[in-house]
Amino acid sequence: MKLIFSVILLLVIKFAISAANDKNKTFVLTTEWQQIEEGQILPSGVHVRVNLQTGKKEAKLLNNQEVNENNKIKGALVNVEENIYEASWKESSTKNKVKISKTLSEALKSLPKDSLGIEYSPEKLEQIKRDFKTYSELKESYKNLQKEFRSDGELITKLIDEYKNLSKENEEQPITLKTKINTQLRILEDLDYLVHQIDNALWFIGKGGLDEILLPLVVNETNINLRTKAVRLLGALTLNNPLAQIKVFEKNIGGYLAQILISSEHSEELSSALYAFGSLLRKFPLALQRILSTSGTQALVAVLAKKCELKVKAKSITLISDIIVEKKLVISNYAYSDSPSAAAQYAELNLQEWLHLSGFCETVDSLVSSQLYELLEQPDLTEYFAIGLENAAEICESVWSKSAELRHTLLTIKNRYMRTNNEFHVEVAQQIEKVVKILYSLNHRDEL
Ligand SMILES: *[C@@H]1O[C@H](CO)[C@@H](O)[C@H](O)[C@H]1NC(C)=O
Ligand SMILES: *[C@@H]1O[C@H](CO)[C@@H](O)[C@H](O)[C@H]1NC(C)=O
Ligand SMILES: *[C@@H]1O[C@H](CO)[C@@H](O)[C@H](O)[C@H]1NC(C)=O
Repeated sequence: MKLIFSVILLLVIKFAISAANDKNKTFVLTTEWQQIEEGQILPSGVHVRVNLQTGKKEAKLLNNQEVNENNKIKGALVNVEENIYEASWKESSTKNKVKISKTLSEALKSLPKDSLGIEYSPEKLEQIKRDFKTYSELKESYKNLQKEFRSDGELITKLIDEYKNLSKENEEQPITLKTKINTQLRILEDLDYLVHQIDNALWFIGKGGLDEILLPLVVNETNINLRTKAVRLLGALTLNNPLAQIKVFEKNIGGYLAQILISSEHSEELSSALYAFGSLLRKFPLALQRILSTSGTQALVAVLAKKCELKVKAKSITLISDIIVEKKLVISNYAYSDSPSAAAQYAELNLQEWLHLSGFCETVDSLVSSQLYELLEQPDLTEYFAIGLENAAEICESVWSKSAELRHTLLTIKNRYMRTNNEFHVEVAQQIEKVVKILYSLNHRDEL
């Protein structure tokens, strides 16, 4: 089973290498099967198969008909503006790239430049060499793996069996609890990679993976590492995958995720739960209605109020903000189109009332007002908050426009960032300025 783990590593390293080379290796999807070249990055939500003649992997888009059929099956999911999430994903991945090089060079700037002008610490160089070595080794194991398994489906079935075998008593070869947990973690990790592909995710569910592996882990598991990994797998399973979203929704897993968001104190677990929650809810008005009108909104607001890392809170406000934007987009795009029922479903989402009842506006006010120094130091998080504030301004205007502390915090950050020479800081300052204008300019124009 080491082999399978290797494949994941291979993919991770491939990603790292292609990002580092800064070559354009994004796989351009079409509705025809195309070979996946080495180092290419696949988006989620695609068909993947191994071409048995060439032994190479191929991928293609779901065609529109399939997408439509998927959606029609229960009429539950809406095909929102295809690209809003992809767009924000791209944006954030470009940013991450910038960030990575920034931190690398910042961390190492005390070292003398070598003749290429590349600043790497000796440890980093060692690591890069190690990675490259592993990379060529992994390429070999991956070839062997392809021979061993004809398809990802076989691989998934085998992983599920292996997982189930772990809970059977084996008197000849009893295993320790630690070994068992480590094996479970490894299997979940392998599956996490595999289920990013739509077909694989559905295969996993069809083989009982949801009922026999994920549900018990999410609901009853006491080991936090296992629970966190399972929740993350759930997110991968449902990301951009309407049929999987429906299956997961039908098991009431949204309610369990809300429970985790309310009760957990661990940043890592909260972060996974937000990822899974977002994957489950996006573009799925029925789930949004059922889950957010009950404990869901309260759960998201609870994260903003608890003692956990600020970046987790940034994720929570971003999810709320995405949902507000999604509703607006669908209503404006579908009201006069041939799919008015989508707009009608979204119109019934009473986000304003749910957010007010959960104390969202007050919570965000005191959170942002109390985090001035953290926000000054973390412009990337500040940007998430600024975008969240802008998108929720309509809902919270009555509270936020009266808050002197919030206004002071926003203006201080804006002024500080505006005065730097850093392009990104200035961008964030401009984003904050937009929020300030919406909230305060009508009444206090001259004070700005
Ligand atoms: C990079 O790939 C994208 C498709 O993913 C394409 O739209 C774009 O034009 C490419 N850019 C360059 C510089 O080749
Ligand atoms: C699971 O156990 C059965 C019988 O105990 C065995 O035949 C099978 O090979 C095992 N599967 C895996 C993947 O370990
Ligand atoms: C969780 O544990 C309870 C009590 O042992 C059990 O009744 C329930 O079926 C379990 N739930 C899942 C999803 O495994």
